[in-house]
Amino acid sequence: KREHKRPVRVYMDGCFDLMHYGHANALRQAKLLGDQLVVGVVSDEEIVANKGPPVLSMEERLTLVSGLKWVDEVIPNAPYEITEEFMNTLFKKYNIDYIIHGDDPCLLPDGTDAYELAKKVGRYKQIKRTEGVSSTDIVGKFNTPTVRIYHTLYTGRILLTFKHKDADDIDEKVEVKPNDELKTSIMPLCCIIEQYAHMHSGSFAIARVVYLDGSFESFPTLGMVEILRVLDNLATFFLWVSTDDQSIRDRRGHRPIMHLHERTLSVLACRHVDEVIIGTPWEVSKDMLDERVLQGKIDPYAVPKSMGIFKIITSPKSITSVSVATRIVDNHEAY
Ligand code: CTP
Repeated sequence: KREHKRPVRVYMDGCFDLMHYGHANALRQAKLLGDQLVVGVVSDEEIVANKGPPVLSMEERLTLVSGLKWVDEVIPNAPYEITEEFMNTLFKKYNIDYIIHGDDPCLLPDGTDAYELAKKVGRYKQIKRTEGVSSTDIVGKFNTPTVRIYHTLYTGRILLTFKHKDADDIDEKVEVKPNDELKTSIMPLCCIIEQYAHMHSGSFAIARVVYLDGSFESFPTLGMVEILRVLDNLATFFLWVSTDDQSIRDRRGHRPIMHLHERTLSVLACRHVDEVIIGTPWEVSKDMLDERVLQGKIDPYAVPKSMGIFKIITSPKSITSVSVATRIVDNHEAY
């Protein structure tokens, strides 16, 4: 008789503040080390004690983490340190087999390793940290006394034009220039794209399809995850990564912040996304509606409007990249 094997349950904890694609990539790798992924979202108090206040609240961080497709269960208010108490309580309660963390050091204020105990008892595994993106760096960039801060919440490249609230008092007008060199930290390997795309839920031929377009340079944002969650109840939806890099450059005057493949992976990381058309032109054309291929220019929605299948929806959350940036700048002393 074949013995029934219990699924391997892995646990990754973290602050997951200002969710970025490094977090998504960490959770993807963690899930590969087991069958079910439990994520501990560290409490506001523990983050304050160990690295200073988070920008996003526990509720906001939970929403973002739960929106990613590799996450099976979430534990709110998780501890920062893997203590004996954690091993005797939550670790057992959630049937956790291994604790996973990136290969960057995670130190407590006294300099000791937060995962020492898990390592000692052979319950620790490691994944590769994604270079070039970090919540700490993102917050740090907002704390410089520049009049204009060009910044992306996700890559450290240019996305927002943001005016510091003390801007008028500052003589030196510093502009942080875009990096000419776009550094990529996730390789667009087919096997990685497959892992991002693997939760495809079915055939578009039989599904009611909702198209939602965007450049998705700062995905996942809280507002986006919320709107996708609402739409998910309405239909299977088919989401395209707007616009090829050249179309973005034509419209904005600068190249996109994230490569097309980074934008594609960021969108695919969200559990509410079924499919992505990679690198579409700007306008939704008749051909694209028939064949699911995009073409055209000017009003991108002229065709779907004329066909009466265009709808504007309101996000349940008003939070945007700009309001998060405002939150950071307004509280810059605390961070
Ligand atoms: N992580 C990662 N790659 C990144 C950032 C984080 O693999 N670029 C991993 C961390 O190693 C950790 C998990 O994501 O296992 C949750 O990280 P979190 O505690 O939110 O991140 P920090 O590393 O503290 O955050 P930061 O982004 O500020 O560096």
